[in-house]
Amino acid sequence: MLKHFESEEIVFDKLEEKGVKGPVDVMREEHDEMKEKEKEFNLMVNKKKLNKEEVKKFIYIIKYIAEMLKSHIQKEEMILYPLVIEKLSNEELKECGEKAEKLK
Ligand SMILES: [Fe+2]
Repeated sequence: MLKHFESEEIVFDKLEEKGVKGPVDVMREEHDEMKEKEKEFNLMVNKKKLNKEEVKKFIYIIKYIAEMLKSHIQKEEMILYPLVIEKLSNEELKECGEKAEKLK
């Protein structure tokens, strides 16, 4: 997920330059939330054995991340991407793409 978030930061910065604030803030907040849940997920995965309560927590984390991702992707498709198309020129999109490529 981290690479996805990093490449989106490039677009967020561009959108902010164009005066888009609210949707970018929401996306960043959700990225932060998912990063925290991913840390919890990784902690659980790295444990050799989980007790009953930890298994419940692990399932909760997985469901939480899945729901969050589903909702996040819907927002990207319905709100963020149309904004990107509306606000950024082809040249700016190309520039974002080149920067994102360098992250790989
Ligand atoms: Fe995202």
